[in-house]
Amino acid sequence: MAAVIEDVIARKVFNNRGEETIEVDVITASGFGRVAAPAGKSRGKAEVVYYPQGGVEQAIKRVEELVAPEIIGLNADCQEEIDNTLHEIDGSKDFRSIGGNAAFAVSLASAEAAANSSGLLLFRYLGGHVACELPYPLGNILSGGQHTRGKSPDIQEFLVISHGAESFLEAATANVQVHKKVGEILSKKDKLFSGGRSDEGAWAANIGDAEALEVLTQACEEIGSELDFVCSMGVDFASSSLWNGKEKKYNYEREKKKRDSGEQLEFVLELAKKYHLVYVEDPFHEEDFNSFAELSKKIKGCLVCGDDLFTTNSERLNRGIRMHAANAIIIKVNQVGTLSDAWETIEMAKRHGYVPVMSHRSGDTCDWHIAQLAVAFKCPVIKAGVVEAARTAKINELIRIEEFLGDRARMADLEVSKGG
Ligand code: PGA
Ligand code: ZN
Repeated sequence: MAAVIEDVIARKVFNNRGEETIEVDVITASGFGRVAAPAGKSRGKAEVVYYPQGGVEQAIKRVEELVAPEIIGLNADCQEEIDNTLHEIDGSKDFRSIGGNAAFAVSLASAEAAANSSGLLLFRYLGGHVACELPYPLGNILSGGQHTRGKSPDIQEFLVISHGAESFLEAATANVQVHKKVGEILSKKDKLFSGGRSDEGAWAANIGDAEALEVLTQACEEIGSELDFVCSMGVDFASSSLWNGKEKKYNYEREKKKRDSGEQLEFVLELAKKYHLVYVEDPFHEEDFNSFAELSKKIKGCLVCGDDLFTTNSERLNRGIRMHAANAIIIKVNQVGTLSDAWETIEMAKRHGYVPVMSHRSGDTCDWHIAQLAVAFKCPVIKAGVVEAARTAKINELIRIEEFLGDRARMADLEVSKGG
């Protein structure tokens, strides 16, 4: 009876962009869980609706009036029942009635409350004793696209993944050093560089895509040789933001170049080869499963990851699997609304050899739960940024988990070669 839910409290808090977001406390007889929802900027069209009309305040009202009466009295460890109840109360396919972010916060806070009630950390409660693998942190170093304002690269994210590291702490340390090194290189290159950063804490600099990759290559090589392991690079094109559906072209504004699907494919392959990319995310817009499949056929030793393409949705993933569209999937629980939905997608991904990449959102809080989820669900990679408080909240939680696991801790199996 210790995990019977006694109260559900919803409130308005702020994320790192200063946007309003929903936070929920789930209280049981002997524990509690608190979760704040994140928010994306370059959202996929197939994501659930974050809030009903009326925004966060309306979502809070619905949690108080509709959700709490149904959830109170349930057992916090009956996750499926809680998540099914959320779907039933909402009644729509995309959580437009109570809000996907409200569902997300209630769902995850219930899991946290259940773990807390049984005296376990969330990753242990969800993943059991076999959950001992730490993910490799994939961190945003340079920002562009919709994540910046003014002059910056067209591509949204230039990322580092220190997959030669032997521990999480080592990998996280390398990422921080690469971030710092890139800052130094940018300051030397451009006397006017102000040290500006994006929401995710990545540098926002007046450089183009190729230059960003050159700078990142230099930093990865220098830090890699200092630390004596490989720091590789990845890119999130966030192509749906570049895509102009009328012209049927990807618009690289800064570069003053438009690429059709074929040219985009060549461009991605060229960058992957030249810069030994081990990770490419959303290289095509969210409806172009075919081009994803073409790329997946041609590229070697590289994770081809769908974010907007899949939106953590098992039906979309199923389509991708059938078409051999990718080999990795971004997992953002608030893209689907509940933990059970995300869990189903992760399981499907793993059954078909897809790497699940647990991920933050550009608008996020110091909520650290995705760190626990990455270990619980054995995600070999976590995309959680490098610096900025909402990012370090997740990274630091993983450092704590690694310490907690002691001798049993090991890095996840991740097969990427030189890339490209
Ligand atoms: P977001 O996107 O702004 O929707 O969080 C980040 C990403 O594309 O990975
Ligand atoms: Zn993305």
